[in-house]
Amino acid sequence: MNQITLHPITSPLVGNMLVPGDKSISHRAIIFGSLAKGTTVISHFLDGEDCMRTIHAFQAMGVKIKKEEQRVTIESNGVEALEEPLKPINLGNSGTTARLLLGVLAGLPFHTTLFGDESLTKRPMDRVAVPLREMGAKIDGRFNGKYLPISTRGGQLQAITFHPPVKSAQVKSGVLLAGLLANGMTEVIEETKTRDHTENMFQAFGGEISIDGNKISVKGEQTLTGTDIQVPGDISSAAFFLVAAAIVPGSKITITDVGLNQTRTGIIDVLQKMNVKINVEEEKFIGGEPIGKITVESSDIKATDIDGDIIPRMIDEIPIVALLATQAKGTTIIRDAEELRYKETDRIASVVHTLNKLGAKIEATEDGMIIEGGTPITGGEADSHGDHRIGMMIAIASLIAKSDTILHQPDSINISYPTFFDDLAKLKK
Ligand code: S3P
Repeated sequence: MNQITLHPITSPLVGNMLVPGDKSISHRAIIFGSLAKGTTVISHFLDGEDCMRTIHAFQAMGVKIKKEEQRVTIESNGVEALEEPLKPINLGNSGTTARLLLGVLAGLPFHTTLFGDESLTKRPMDRVAVPLREMGAKIDGRFNGKYLPISTRGGQLQAITFHPPVKSAQVKSGVLLAGLLANGMTEVIEETKTRDHTENMFQAFGGEISIDGNKISVKGEQTLTGTDIQVPGDISSAAFFLVAAAIVPGSKITITDVGLNQTRTGIIDVLQKMNVKINVEEEKFIGGEPIGKITVESSDIKATDIDGDIIPRMIDEIPIVALLATQAKGTTIIRDAEELRYKETDRIASVVHTLNKLGAKIEATEDGMIIEGGTPITGGEADSHGDHRIGMMIAIASLIAKSDTILHQPDSINISYPTFFDDLAKLKK
């Protein structure tokens, strides 16, 4: 199906919901479960296309991985048992698979070729290839290894101290995973803290890792042990419904069992700053990850400025926050978000182009956007451009549009949220 027609909503959104498992944590659970010795059982795994790429990559290296809906069982004999894949590995659209897998392959004594879809083929890989080469890995590819297809020949790695030049959890995680396979103590010192699921997962699998402010140190050549992982609901998926409830009059929804990791909750802070009625209750910790529930009600939204250290804590939520800002009183300015240009699409360009087409008034800047509030959404035609988060942003915009919206390439939403439209339908009265 390459287009669907979406109708404006005629009633409030109400009810309780669960969102699918966290994408970042699902990827990492497969990676760590494959590197660990023994059995790992993952529940509430994200059954989306990106995480399936990570499963297929490790299956190609001989790991036994069985998936039954959202439950995944991994039987692995550890790092030494991983085998040279027979064929090039297709990473599809998944940047997380690419960057984290490169870190693992850097330390494995065999040859691999990685390739991806049109979007992934344009995304920079040198940000991780450069430190991995410094550790001793052989990595080559298009444009001297900047872009996929990339081939690796891993081997004995030496630990490094790395100061990431970009605020990226994927880059940090790639180097930490290589550090696990290296000789010595690898250190990553971040300028701004990014999502720390890799660090939490090291601990959950019995690994030694120390965290001192923004400095993370991992001891090399450790053996990890298989464990059970319950994946929290993905706050980045929840964000679409949090904004939907805020902008659809009369709405009130509660999202349960959602991840509330501090490195991911920038969206909650921004919603509060924008005067959205929101209540958050942290309930438990599982595998080092806080989980709880969030309730949101429709609200009179105020514009705000979004910049600085909060950006990495909400990088994937900026498209949906941009939609929220179109409905706010005043002008919202987003800065320091140049990283958006290196996502599944250039998300500064795609958000601005798409929302303007639907009636908003937004101006792109080099590192963000300026969004005029109080602009009605008209509806019309809009394309996800193969970017799941742009697809979901359009779908939420269509709820408050004056007329129907035709969404092109809705299938991209399956990358992170295959049940998105079913979950939305359940909230309609
Ligand atoms: C992710 C980190 C973020 C995010 C991506 C998932 C991860 O990317 O945008 O969706 O799982 O580590 P960067 O770390 O490159 O900013």
